[in-house]
Amino acid sequence: MSKKFVITGGAGFIGSNLAEALANENEVVVIDDLSTGMAENLAGLEVQLLKGCITDFGLLKDAFEGADCIFHQAGIASVKKSIEDPVRTDEVGIEGTLKVLIAAKDAGVRRVILASSAAVYGSSPELPKKEDMMPEPKSPYAVTKLAGEHYARVFRELYGLETVALRYFNVFGPKHRLCSGLQHRGRAEGDNPLVSTRKEFKFEGKGFAFGVRRETVSFGSKGSSRSRSQKTVVHNVEEVFGLRS
Ligand SMILES: NC(=O)c1ccc[n+]([C@@H]2O[C@H](COP(=O)([O-])OP(=O)(O)OC[C@H]3O[C@@H](n4cnc5c(N)ncnc54)[C@H](O)[C@@H]3O)[C@@H](O)[C@H]2O)c1
Repeated sequence: MSKKFVITGGAGFIGSNLAEALANENEVVVIDDLSTGMAENLAGLEVQLLKGCITDFGLLKDAFEGADCIFHQAGIASVKKSIEDPVRTDEVGIEGTLKVLIAAKDAGVRRVILASSAAVYGSSPELPKKEDMMPEPKSPYAVTKLAGEHYARVFRELYGLETVALRYFNVFGPKHRLCSGLQHRGRAEGDNPLVSTRKEFKFEGKGFAFGVRRETVSFGSKGSSRSRSQKTVVHNVEEVFGLRS
């Protein structure tokens, strides 16, 4: 049976991939202020795009009516921007998330799935990362993600709203803007179109991001992942995205 899903930040990289995966067989509503997302990411999809900010209660209330599940992806997805403007980061990341949870509870939504981040772990070198490690946020961005996780837990305990917070590591795939730790150099400048500024990644393999797209790749440090050299990672990314001739 068709369900209704609302995706906040649904015009962004991860949100639009989710929309694509869900749109065929379900009703999909996207809330996005288009600050970093683009309406073109949703081109050709049967989704309703509501342009606006997640701090707008009225907008959330209308959009959430009759919804089965909210995928809360909206956020200022940048550590750098959060350091430059912690107040705005807080408004969107904490106030916005709180309003999403309240509006979901009030509308009788069954489940809210939140985009958290591996940034909550801080700079501890310990690998693999585990959920029961002590969080150590090192930026306003990470603070907002951790606060969102706590709010989600509290809403589950207080009101029975089903909540799941997913700590994404670095997610790559179609519609990625190739920023935050990655630079896009283009084929003309060398053999490797994707060049990491970091020395080493953990390669997790295909099929991440809740089955959004089979070709989506995540680099994380889950128990099953193995450490790979940067060269291997770049090779794998190119292969998955068909960039390797
Ligand atoms: N991409 C990653 O590797 C990664 C890693 C960890 C966590 N995350 C989190 O996952 C989520 C999605 O990330 P992404 O990579 O798709 O980023 P993105 O910037 O492509 O998507 C974020 C979307 O949220 C929208 N948005 C921002 N502020 C808003 C507001 N106030 N109201 C409504 N919409 C707003 C933007 O326009 C954009 O479409 C974010 O919350 C991000 O913090 C991403």
